[in-house]
Formats: sequence, C-alpha cells, structure tokens
Amino acid sequence: MREIIATVLENKRIAENIHSLTFACEEAVPVRAGQFVMIGMNGFPLRRPLAVCKAEGERITVCYQLKGEGTRRLASDYKAGEKLSVLLPLGNGFYVAEEEKRVAVVGGGVGIFPLISAIRQYADTKEIYAYMGFRNRAAVCMEYEMRRGRELVIATDDGSFGYHGTAVQALMESIGSVKPDVILSCGPLPMLRALKSAVAGRKIPTYVSLEERMGCGIGACLVCVCEKTGGGHARVCRDGPVFEIGEVEI
Ligand SMILES: Cc1cc2nc3c(=O)[nH]c(=O)nc-3n(C[C@H](O)[C@H](O)[C@H](O)COP(=O)(O)OP(=O)(O)OC[C@H]3O[C@@H](n4cnc5c(N)ncnc54)[C@H](O)[C@@H]3O)c2cc1C
Ligand code: FES
Repeated sequence: MREIIATVLENKRIAENIHSLTFACEEAVPVRAGQFVMIGMNGFPLRRPLAVCKAEGERITVCYQLKGEGTRRLASDYKAGEKLSVLLPLGNGFYVAEEEKRVAVVGGGVGIFPLISAIRQYADTKEIYAYMGFRNRAAVCMEYEMRRGRELVIATDDGSFGYHGTAVQALMESIGSVKPDVILSCGPLPMLRALKSAVAGRKIPTYVSLEERMGCGIGACLVCVCEKTGGGHARVCRDGPVFEIGEVEI
C-alpha cells in the first residue's frame, strides 16, 4: 500500500447518479481485481473507499454513486488536472484458482464495479458468465466492459431493460447449464443473503466482497469489523473485502 498524489484525467457522469473517475498515478500500480482505493479530498478528514474498476498501468478508474457530501464533492470539484490524494492498492481482492475455469460473477448496484475488474482480469483465461443487476434502465452502465466475458445477463428490478428480476434470480435460472466452478459476487447485503441461501448445499466456492463503513482503510481503526461465522471478527479493509461466503455473517 502507498499514498500517491494522483492527477485527475477524467471525471464524468456515466449513468443516473453514477460517475466515473480516471486518475493517473506517478507510475504503474499493480492492482488485483477486488482491491480498492481510499480517496482523500480537501476538507474531509476521512477518505472514501472505492473499488478499482479498471487498472491500466498508471491509469486507474473508479466508478461511484452520488450518495452523500463526499461523493458529491468528488463529482463537482475534481475536474481534469486536479490533484487527489489516494491510498492504494488496498484489501485482498478476488482469487480464482487455476483449475476453476467457469466463473460466474454476480453483481448488484455499485457492486458491479469490482466485478468489472474481475471480468477484465480473467476474460482471457476463464469462461466468465456475468449476471449484473440494476434498479432500472437508467442505472445501467459499463455494458461494453461487462460484455468481455462469455455471457452477460443484465437484470433490472423493474424489467425496463434485460431480464426482469434480480441478478441472483438470473444466475439461478442458468446455474444448471453453466455449472460454474466458482462464483464471485458484490452488491447490497440483501442480494448477498439471497445468493447465500440460493447456493447453499451446491458446493460451489462462492466469494463475496463486502462494503462496510470505513475509517482508515488500512486495518488500524476497527470501524469496519464484521462478525465471522462461528465467532470472532474480521476487518473488512484488511482481511477482506473479499471473503468466502460462509466465513462471515451477512
Ligand atoms: C471496499 C469498498 C468498496 C466500495 N466501492 C464502491 C464503488 O466502487 N462505488 C461506489 O459508488 N461506492 C463504493 N463503496 C461505497 C462508498 O465508499 C460510499 O458510498 C461512499 O464512501 C459514500 O461517501 P459519501 O461521503 O458520499 O456519503 P456519506 O454517507 O456522507 O458518508 C459518510 C461516511 O460514511 C462512509 N460511508 C457511507 N456509506 C458507505 C458505504 N456504503 N461503504 C463504506 N463507507 C461508507 C463514508 O466513507 C464517509 O466516511 C465502497 C465501499 C467499500 C467499503
Ligand atoms: S477501516 Fe480502519 S480498520 Fe478497517
């Protein structure tokens, strides 16, 4: 992990309430799919955690939903040429074993962004089946990136685009034919809970990336702790954010 002063290259709206920010580091940073950055902004004592969506040498892209004061300020004040303080790369990231060839990725909401990174990382060596869920058509973004895999199902809650239903329902409709060796997922807790019960008993290794509120992002403040199944705690920023689905209480 290191702290860098990055230069904003582009910061633009890509869907309803969603922006994409690309910044340049001083040099190339090796980033694994599922790792994240902590973005510092002037006037905010706490940095904001955002998953890496694309890492291309010294260029890093994150995508963020306008949520509170921090993300709104990021969108309004950080135009091309501005400087940003960034901690990266953070967290463990997704891991797909050599023998796991068929990979299902299941994302919902802002959880699709770390999964785009996974699709980019594994598209050349694995068969990727992507199930990506959005609220409605206006929220759909990064379709080109999601299409890099073998198959893509875009699901919308209201049926205004693609499959009418959730990403987990879409996965379960084809799980018998796709037969994934491993499932990678990120999304809101209700989605992760639905996935957990849907795959229970199927013996498919399933990994989830958690989004907890964070303070430091580097394991020091304990703001992000979650409960481990069977007792004990884990720091989402340092021990995660990716966990085996049975390892943590969700
Ligand atoms: C590992 C990780 C990866 C993430 N990746 C993305 C991503 O790729 N795209 C995206 O849109 N969002 C992502 N989030 C959520 C994002 O960090 C929050 O939406 C953002 O911090 C909200 O900041 P705010 O100031 O606009 O909102 P406010 O609600 O005003 O934030 C107040 C405080 O709460 C924290 N906070 C609020 N919501 C969250 C949350 N869901 N998770 C963690 N901290 C939160 C903020 O960091 C800040 O310290 C990720 C969170 C984590 C932990
Ligand atoms: S955010 Fe400080 S320990 Fe995880």
